[in-house]
Amino acid sequence: MSHRILLLGAPGAGKGTQSRKLAEEFGIEHVTTGDALRANKDMETEYGTPRSFMDAGELVPDPVVNEIVKAALEDADGFVLDGYPRNLSQAEYLSEITDLDAVVFLDVGEEELVNRLTGRRMDPETGDIYHVEFDWPEDEAIQERLVQRDDDEEDTVRERLRVYHENTEPVIEHFRERGDLVEVDGEATPADVFERIRDVVAN
Ligand code: AP5
Repeated sequence: MSHRILLLGAPGAGKGTQSRKLAEEFGIEHVTTGDALRANKDMETEYGTPRSFMDAGELVPDPVVNEIVKAALEDADGFVLDGYPRNLSQAEYLSEITDLDAVVFLDVGEEELVNRLTGRRMDPETGDIYHVEFDWPEDEAIQERLVQRDDDEEDTVRERLRVYHENTEPVIEHFRERGDLVEVDGEATPADVFERIRDVVAN
């Protein structure tokens, strides 16, 4: 059975953490606009570079992001999509290019989101995600190379959350109204949250 999974949630809800586990568990592609854009932050487009939007916590223009997703989904036999769609126009575009088997919303409260994002650290070599308080690596060599994402400073985090409430909550409402949305409480350990999502996807 192919798995076409959409994982929705606020910045910091754990989409990246859980998507990586889902991709491994089901042998599917992890399609993430955030990572794709970070790998091409200084690419010139007719709208400017992705960096100019991302470092301010704003959305990168739809045509740039739609093209990334279309190319990635065309090549994928099963996927977990993370970070897209972020507004209703992206949701409409997605419905034109693929069908979905599961739409999961990871629900996490606002202050927990801010704590997770400001404490997040990334491994630039592997892409692995850590947290200064909740998930710190024991290996000193890994500890030393961890970096903070440019958009994880508190002011930018607050702006990202504002943009999420304004643009992306209507997308969640759209899937809820269609009866497609399965809500998962994201405030538990990563392992427990993973089990909850796996149950949804497997059934
Ligand atoms: P993107 O990279 O997609 O960021 P985001 O949606 O803001 O989500 P995050 O990656 O910040 O959080 P996450 O939910 O993946 O959480 P994580 O698992 O890391 O987008 C970045 C930017 O790119 C956007 O602002 C925009 O500019 C642009 N962009 C991207 N997509 C776009 C689109 N479609 N349209 C337009 N622009 C777009 O977890 C967070 C932290 O919490 C980690 O430290 C982790 O260790 C910890 N953690 C995770 N789970 C738990 C748990 N259960 N308990 C405790 N800690 C946990």
